[in-house]
Amino acid sequence: MKTVAQALAVVALGLAFSSSAIAFTGTYTAGDGINGTVHDLGTGHNGMDFQASPADSLDRICIFCHAPHNTYRLSPANGGPGAGVGSGPQAEDAFDYLPLWNHELTGNATSYTMYQNGLGAPTSGDKASQAMANGMTPGSTSLLCLSCHDGSVAINSYGNASQPIASRSSGGATIGAQYLIGQDNYLGNHHPIGFDYDAVQTVDVGIRAADTAELGGAGTVRTHLLGVGNTKMECGTCHSVHNKGNTGETLLWRSDVNSQLCLTCHDKGDDPGTAIP
Ligand code: HEC
Ligand code: HEC
Ligand code: HEC
Ligand code: HEC
Repeated sequence: MKTVAQALAVVALGLAFSSSAIAFTGTYTAGDGINGTVHDLGTGHNGMDFQASPADSLDRICIFCHAPHNTYRLSPANGGPGAGVGSGPQAEDAFDYLPLWNHELTGNATSYTMYQNGLGAPTSGDKASQAMANGMTPGSTSLLCLSCHDGSVAINSYGNASQPIASRSSGGATIGAQYLIGQDNYLGNHHPIGFDYDAVQTVDVGIRAADTAELGGAGTVRTHLLGVGNTKMECGTCHSVHNKGNTGETLLWRSDVNSQLCLTCHDKGDDPGTAIP
């Protein structure tokens, strides 16, 4: 028989979990679009609780990331107009791609520690990391993901003073622990991003060519490389932020069943999904 103290402890534990754990509890079909996914942040559903603050009477989906007017302006280094011209806040130079971006940007843009495999790692020969040898910098698209995923900015913090009050949110709910990527600006133990795939692939014999490796019906790897000339490997190389056009779970362009995703790029065995040249 439980004592009162035990029962209270159980209640207290329950409260502690319910106040911190905002975790998606629903399901969604790969490639079916953003509605009802983890990125459909505007309605309190599927365990999510990232509504706008104050509440958005329209329950919009896109507004968390994009707005139609007066979003962030590019800096002059990226072709933007500079101070005093136009409205909306100016982004830092690290942001060289801003598709009508409305979510509050991370202030960490230039301070991430990138992938590292240790001081004892091979530095020459086939096994040496070319990404490390060439250097990595998170591209603009990855920085947009990190604004939410590194936990430095609240999910429901978007809009600015140049927009209607109904299109701004100043909530303080940061991302749940199991979705944190790049906490404390540390990306050292995450799959490398922010490097030129082609430059790596020409030297690293274990990497398949971007123009022929098929991401399981979701196009070749090239289709999912980002930046000028589609050469940069970023978060979006593996994930489809809108859950659109992808064939894999967890917003992945290709399913990782039998490690197909990994075998797409890494020549470490046969790809069980499709025939790769
Ligand atoms: C959770 C954040 C997020 C939400 C919500 C979101 N987007 Fe995006 N969107 C992005 C990011 C990040 C990019 C740039 C990187 C990329 O395209 O992968 C982008 C790029 C785009 C682009 C330009 C590139 C392309 O894919 O055509 C369009 C258009 C777009 N989004 C439309 C929308 C619309 C419409 C909605 C709402 C139905 C929406 N997005 C919701 C994050 C989001
Ligand atoms: C506006 C904030 C925001 C932005 C921007 C954003 N995400 Fe998310 N993302 C979330 C939230 C919130 C969750 C779910 C967290 C939860 O359930 O508590 C999530 C979940 C995910 C998941 C888990 C999917 C699953 O099925 O488990 C992936 C993968 C993901 N995001 C990738 C990305 C990538 C890649 C980008 C950039 C292209 C991005 N996100 C940009 C807020 C964001
Ligand atoms: C090489 C491909 C690849 C890249 C690049 C990549 N991811 Fe993932 N990501 C995955 C896979 C595979 C999973 C599923 C892992 C699992 O379920 O254990 C995943 C899972 C996630 C999840 C769900 C939580 C978790 O840890 O499983 C989030 C959030 C996420 N990724 C965000 C990002 C962000 C943000 C970036 C860029 C900084 C990124 N991913 C880059 C392959 C990738
Ligand atoms: C879109 C292509 C792509 C996908 C998908 C992908 N990788 Fe990678 N991966 C790369 C590239 C390119 C590098 C950098 C290679 C280099 O530095 O020489 C890399 C680096 C790595 C490294 C670091 C190697 C080192 O030298 O330290 C490991 C380990 C790794 N990937 C494992 C995986 C696993 C496991 C998966 C599946 C979850 C995966 N990758 C999915 C392209 C990919």
